[in-house]
Amino acid sequence: MKITCISGSPVAGGNNEKIVDIISGILKEKGFETGKILLSNKNVQPCTDCGTCKKEKDCPIEDDMAEVNRLLETSDGLIVSSPVFFGSVSAQLKALFDRTILQRRNGFLLKGKVGGAVAIGGSRNGGQEFTIQAIHSWMHIHGMIVVGDRSHFGGIAVRPVESDDVGSKTISDTVNMVCETLERFK
Ligand SMILES: Cc1cc2nc3c(=O)[nH]c(=O)nc-3n(C[C@H](O)[C@H](O)[C@H](O)COP(=O)(O)O)c2cc1C
Repeated sequence: MKITCISGSPVAGGNNEKIVDIISGILKEKGFETGKILLSNKNVQPCTDCGTCKKEKDCPIEDDMAEVNRLLETSDGLIVSSPVFFGSVSAQLKALFDRTILQRRNGFLLKGKVGGAVAIGGSRNGGQEFTIQAIHSWMHIHGMIVVGDRSHFGGIAVRPVESDDVGSKTISDTVNMVCETLERFK
């Protein structure tokens, strides 16, 4: 089974990418195949609502989304990590979310995948819960199976994430929830 981690940060080597690396390591140890999408090195343009994907199973925007789609569609689980930008997800991650209207319009290709969310902010109470809710909304609108961290909503951390022990625990609990839920389907 494959779980793909997405970092919604534009910063290479930042907090979200560090977490995605740690999560990928945990997943490999548990025997999962892993995929990684780092939006710091991807060109993903916003949806222009041109309507092409309603008629043809294609998007006319020429960027890295075709490669991203292949990973999304072939994964059993998705763990999405975003920096908190003005109380919500980054624009880079929102662009990816909106572009997946293609999968929704063409047979709900992301339906049934198991999803977990992580939000990392500069402040302890900087909008992580709302950011997670925005990620969960994307997952629900695709018909995904959404899990939290066993007790609350997902991974909630503050920068620098390597010093946030409480936050790191909510992240590893979220990873475990995604894995345990997927294992039920084996
Ligand atoms: C445009 C912008 C808006 C931000 N807004 C918030 C915010 O609303 N709440 C918060 O806690 N942190 C905010 N931050 C801080 C980032 O969430 C924080 O630096 C995050 O850990 C960055 O993750 P990264 O290192 O992976 O890029 C903001 C940062 C930027 C650049």
